[in-house]
Amino acid sequence: AEIMLHPGEAKKISTMLTGVFFEDINYGADGGLYAELIQNRDFEYHPRDKKYSDKEWNSSSCWSLKGENASFRIDSVKPVHPNNLHYAVLTVEKPGASLVNTGYDGIAVKKGDPYIFSAFTGLLQGKGNKLAIKLVSDSRGVLAGNTITVSASGWKSLKSTLIPSADASDARLEIQPLSSGGIALDMVSLFPQKTFKGRKNGLRADLAQTIADIHPRFVRFPGGCVAHGDGIANIYKWKNSIGPLESRKGDRNIWNYHQSMGLGYFEYFQFCEDIGAEAVPIIAAGVPCQNSSTGGGGQQGGIPMDEMGAYIQDIIDLVEYANGAPNTVWGRKRAEAGHPKPFNLKYIGIGNEDMITDVFRERFEMIYKALKKAHPEITVIGTAGPFFEGSDYVEGWKIASELNIPVMDEHYYQSPGWFINNQDFYDRYDRSKSKVYLGEYAASLPGGNKTNLETALAEALYLTSLERNGDVVEMASYAPLLARENHTQWNPDLIYFNNTEVKPTTGYYVQQLYGQNAGDQYIPSSVSLSNTNTPVKKRIACSVVKDSKTNEIVVKLVNILPVPVNTSLDLQTYRPESGKAGKTVISGNPADRDVRPVISQTDIGGKTTLELAPYSFTVLRFRVKN
Ligand code: AHR
Repeated sequence: AEIMLHPGEAKKISTMLTGVFFEDINYGADGGLYAELIQNRDFEYHPRDKKYSDKEWNSSSCWSLKGENASFRIDSVKPVHPNNLHYAVLTVEKPGASLVNTGYDGIAVKKGDPYIFSAFTGLLQGKGNKLAIKLVSDSRGVLAGNTITVSASGWKSLKSTLIPSADASDARLEIQPLSSGGIALDMVSLFPQKTFKGRKNGLRADLAQTIADIHPRFVRFPGGCVAHGDGIANIYKWKNSIGPLESRKGDRNIWNYHQSMGLGYFEYFQFCEDIGAEAVPIIAAGVPCQNSSTGGGGQQGGIPMDEMGAYIQDIIDLVEYANGAPNTVWGRKRAEAGHPKPFNLKYIGIGNEDMITDVFRERFEMIYKALKKAHPEITVIGTAGPFFEGSDYVEGWKIASELNIPVMDEHYYQSPGWFINNQDFYDRYDRSKSKVYLGEYAASLPGGNKTNLETALAEALYLTSLERNGDVVEMASYAPLLARENHTQWNPDLIYFNNTEVKPTTGYYVQQLYGQNAGDQYIPSSVSLSNTNTPVKKRIACSVVKDSKTNEIVVKLVNILPVPVNTSLDLQTYRPESGKAGKTVISGNPADRDVRPVISQTDIGGKTTLELAPYSFTVLRFRVKN
């Protein structure tokens, strides 16, 4: 194959193309990115959390009593905070028993690392009581222990640092009163001190780093369906997710578990800032998920009109929370949380994959117009409905044109064949209309739920077409991002994990290669093949971009054929500075899983010949002479 570059036709493209889609699905937040190790720390698990399961959850779920002469019950008479009604009462007749929490499938700890135990405690009987706080492993015995004193009858926050003497993945937290009496406990937490960037109430360092390594230009959060919720009452409210942890209001997670809101809007903004990504919060368009089982989803449901004013005000307040001065009402709350400087929020998405009904349209328009008026500096992202080819898509795009919405969010999960056959999808888009945010996409195998090299290459190939259309496609994010092994509600996902390991898929490395090798200029190229058969031609793709800040050229080449392809690349216009290029290749058999990139150096210059391995994705990067 011969690849010709056409520098005269170079065009500017979006510098925001690769981002991430974060949703609390598959235990992505609680039990995932959020570093808290105790499950149901606030005793707020509720039967409604597990609506679609035989296993019922309640306030005492994940907690148990070990030992005798003691009892454990849940009370709600004098809560720490009205938003956090339930707490545990531990009554001991004769010391010996402990209250136990095993975290999320056990607690994983590392020898020598500090873990901060904290809790709100209150004395119900007696003058004072000491509590032994222990980290215990079945296989390694007691790993760490400390004693704290509970002396006050009102709620008091206590802290203690535990340093395990050995690594363990099966640890549990044990709280053992050392005298008889009654003790109230709430917000029982065990938090690694070593979080991502050392942030308090922060993120699991290995997972956050894996996300950061994609070099995403933006982070979408909190969903997905979590954003619009399971019925009106379950619409995600950002105000419930900020402030002191004990005042945050947890809720049912639409994915059939509980969201603690420990990872809330402050933490999302902080994470975006820490990794140099733009924050892209998605707010429900006044309607819940059309698949809601309660609250009248679909055609009927929507926030009542007389409540829409307050709902819209919440969205306007979000901009003040993110960007307002510390002397404004909401800016002050951000400053109090430890961030006096603005977060510089630039985007807000309104709606997620909603059916484009009259109920939706009316509410979307109200929100859109009010937000635009109050904050013209914010780029609003609209939604193109749940099916990219159905009537919602057509209606969604009609609204986009009517209202002049700057960016539209499209979602599609398709087979590898679809991605291969639809590389011209955005070539057809009208450049005078709204730009596109491909907010959710993934190649998945029919009937199956796993990814492999075939799905990863289909995505790599399709991404060459997004770069080519980077003048109309502004942003793109694979979805979903995270999945806790054995707790998935959705497959495939980009990054799997358990308590001790992070397991990126091959598709993750495709995202990383695009994120780390982005450009601001697209240099059109044409590939001429000796075999002119269309199905063959569709399986070879090339994208060339330039990063004008570093004066580097990136060539991305995809070969989804079972044979090697010899190419020659004419680099007369872009003379490499050193005669060498960095080369990264992902290749193997289509059914292979866990294929990793191989990095090397290659000679380059003038007419460069390259052999593209069968089933491969190759990235070349080199600096050019001025
Ligand atoms: O990415 C998983 C889900 O797919 C999202 O929550 C939703 O928006 C879409 O249906």
